Order: sequence, then structure tokens, then C-alpha cells
Amino acid sequence: MGEKLLIAGNWKMHKTPTETVEYFKEFLPLVNEVNNVEVLICPPFIDIPAAVKTTEGSNIQIGAQNCYFEKEGAFTGEISPVMLKAAGCKYVILGHSERRHIFGESNELINKKVISALEEGLKVILCVGETLEERESGLTFTVIESQLRLGLSGVENFLDRIEIAYEPVWAIGTGVAAKPEDAEEVHKFIYQILNELNSNQAGNIRVLYGGSVKPSNAEAILSQPHIKGVLVGGASLKPNDFAQIVKIGAKLAEVK
Ligand code: PGA
Repeated sequence: MGEKLLIAGNWKMHKTPTETVEYFKEFLPLVNEVNNVEVLICPPFIDIPAAVKTTEGSNIQIGAQNCYFEKEGAFTGEISPVMLKAAGCKYVILGHSERRHIFGESNELINKKVISALEEGLKVILCVGETLEERESGLTFTVIESQLRLGLSGVENFLDRIEIAYEPVWAIGTGVAAKPEDAEEVHKFIYQILNELNSNQAGNIRVLYGGSVKPSNAEAILSQPHIKGVLVGGASLKPNDFAQIVKIGAKLAEVK
């Protein structure tokens, strides 16, 4: 596999530009010696310029949490991948469960966004995950498979610029993470599907786990063989907590 672990933070709708600068002042010195994992932070759009400027020359990459699929036009309130690229973003998260469930995004819409973000040269973190109801009805694998196949439709030859985040909806923001071995089972299944889509590139895709990752459970999660990183919400808002998770990743990178 060879890729570094990816430790990503999703700030969701938190922090102002001023708070962003303060965060990095605290966070950067905590992780400035870590170079064996990739570190990414995805703040709200309005904070991206401050985040890019403050992290310049560091080992931290900045990404966005969403985008629209058109390059420009009459789409009030939207942001395009062209704009994200120009602002210094390297990644965009697409299909996050909050986008799917609060804002009603369909697999078809998410797929259009994936295609458009890749065309602009951004890397994509495509999120997939089942709800509690789906899990309890035995639908986990069916849901994940269709989110993957529909989300990645037409970009099967560009999987080298895609990462997947498996985020069980019931584990997001609840404080209750999936059991590492249960997450591992789904990650294995995801790699199986990716392999069917493109056997040459599947091995280089990082499948991240997300949902209540914190310093106390990060090691058990990241120790699973098919978990290649984490997408961290709540715990990425605190420089100390997120730095601890980065360091756990760095420690495991030595042995993984
Ligand atoms: P959480 O969020 O770590 O706060 O559960 C994860 C996510 O939604 O990406």
C-alpha cells in the first residue's frame, strides 16, 4: 500500500477566522515534527484563507467540507471547486452524512460533485455510512455498496485521487465509536468493492474511519489493518486532542 495514514479533521460549522488563527498557533508547534502521516484540516469556507495562510510552509494541508458541481454561475450560496482550488485547498469532503441527511443530498448529486472536484484537480474524501435503522435491518453492506458504486460512477479510472471515509451515521457526534473490529469488517468490504471498480488503484486508496474518534480510542481504531486514517469531527476542534490523535497515527505509522 505504501501511502501514509491520513489524519483529517472536519470542523463542521465551528470557528471564526480569528479563532482559526488562534487554533493553528496552538496546534502547529504540537505537530511540527510529525512527517510520517498526512494531516488535513477542513474548516468552514469562510476560514479557509486564514487556515491556508497560517499553515503555509507547515506539514498541514487544508481542505473544504463540501462544494457545488458547477464552476460558476447563478447558484446563490454555493462554492465551486475552482474557487476551493484557487483558495489553496487540496481536498474536499463530499457526501458527508450531514450533507446527505440534513441537506438531502442524493448519491447522484454527490457523484456530480465528485466528478467536478476531480476535474479541478482536488482530491476527494467520499463519505459513506449506514444509519442505525439500516444497520439493524441488516442493510449495512447494501447501503455502503450503493453509496460507493453510485458516488464513484464514471471516475473509476481516477481512484488514485479519492479517499473514502466510512462513517456509520449512528457513531457521528454520539461519543460512541464503532467497535474497531466491526469497522474493520466494513473497511475490508469497501476495499473489496474498490478492487472490483479498479484493481490497479484500489490498494492506494485510503479508507478512513470516522465517528466519535478521540485520543482514547484512536489507537485501537488505527491499529486495524484496513483502516488507513481517521476523519475526526468534535475532537479536531481542540488543538491538544487533535495533536494527540496525529501523534498516535505517527507512532503506528512506524509499524503499519
Ligand atoms: P465526530 O464527527 O468525530 O464528531 O463524531 C465525525 C464526522 O462527522 O466527520
